[in-house]
Amino acid sequence: MPQFVDKYLDEILLTQEEIQARIAELGAQISADYEGGELLLICVLKGGVPFLTDLMRHITIPHEIDFMAVSSYGRGVRETTGVVRLVKDLDEPVQDKHVLIVEDIIDSGVTLGYLVQLLSPRNPASLKICTLLNKWERRTTDIPVDYVGFDIEDKFVFGYGLDIDELYRNLTYVGVVKT
Ligand code: IMP
Ligand code: MG
Repeated sequence: MPQFVDKYLDEILLTQEEIQARIAELGAQISADYEGGELLLICVLKGGVPFLTDLMRHITIPHEIDFMAVSSYGRGVRETTGVVRLVKDLDEPVQDKHVLIVEDIIDSGVTLGYLVQLLSPRNPASLKICTLLNKWERRTTDIPVDYVGFDIEDKFVFGYGLDIDELYRNLTYVGVVKT
């Protein structure tokens, strides 16, 4: 393991093999559930990018992709302030489309709660959520999560889209940060 990662890595929580195997299952499930519908995957930048690109290659039905970006005011490295701001909106309308939001991790649920409130009034045919990681213990905003890769404990994790100060999103595994 390269030394620069060693500095932050306490332990590997999910290996590349575990992540890829679970994503293949999720892709198969989503393909079956949305068969015959018009599916639009919405990736939440930037953390959702590796998950989206791997997931979409396991989705065997035709689908579109689009991107959104949000940020939280005054967020510290490891906490959410609860105030979310839209940084980049979708390119296309979602009206009458079956929308599936693709996220890296749900922590407090504030970000997803904001996105659901933003997209619901645009009248999609359906609106569901798919997250790779679910920190269920930390939830303050109650949102229904339809597809979960892994339920994880309340630890700060990084890799596979998740950053430490914008770095290490490229790791193929998810690691726990040293405290
Ligand atoms: P929420 O609004 O509290 O659900 O936070 C969701 C966002 O917080 C995620 O999209 C991540 O950007 C960030 N986040 C939450 N937990 C972690 C973590 O353990 N590592 C890296 N980023 C995290
Ligand atoms: Mg995110």
